[in-house]
Amino acid sequence: MMEPRAAGENHFLADVQRLRVSAQTMMAESAEPVSLLQAAMSAEIACVLRYSLIAVSADGLENEWVATECAAQAADERNHMVRLAERITELGGKPDYFAPELALRHMVPEASAGCLPRLFAENLDAEQCVIGLYRELSAYFAASDPKTRALLDDILADEETHTSDMEDLLSTQLN
Ligand SMILES: [Fe+2]
Ligand SMILES: [Fe+2]
Repeated sequence: MMEPRAAGENHFLADVQRLRVSAQTMMAESAEPVSLLQAAMSAEIACVLRYSLIAVSADGLENEWVATECAAQAADERNHMVRLAERITELGGKPDYFAPELALRHMVPEASAGCLPRLFAENLDAEQCVIGLYRELSAYFAASDPKTRALLDDILADEETHTSDMEDLLSTQLN
C-alpha cells in the first residue's frame, strides 16, 4: 500500500480534517448538537463532490470500474448528506450547504499518468478521517440522543465499507 499523504498535499483530506477538528472543539465545548451534525454533513458534501468528479474525470471515463465505484460511493455520500440534513432540521436547525471549513479546492487533481493510485490513496486517507469523526460523534451522542447515535452508526458502517472497498481496489486494480 502507498504511504499516506500529508494533509497539506491531499486537499480532500485537509477539508475533512478541518471539519473533524472543528467537531472535536465543539464537543469539548458542549456545543449544540446541530452544529456537530453540520460538521458531519459538510464532510459528506466534500465526499459527494470528490467521488462525483472522479467518476466523470478522464480516468473515470477510461476505466469503467473507476466510474462505477465512484458513482456508487457518491450516491452513498449523498444519502448520508440528506439524512444528516433531515436530522438537523428535526432538531430545529437549518442545514448549511456552504460551510466555511470547506475549501473544496483541487478536489480532483489534474489528471496525469498513473495518478489513479494516488487519487484512491487520498480517498482512503480521507475516509479513515471521516470514520474517526463518526466514531467520536457516535460516542458523544451515546447517552444523550439515541436516535442521532443510531443514524451516525448507520453512516459509520457505510464508511467502513467504503474504506474496505478502496483497500480492495488499491490492491487488485491498482497494483
Ligand atoms: Fe459518507
Ligand atoms: Fe465514504
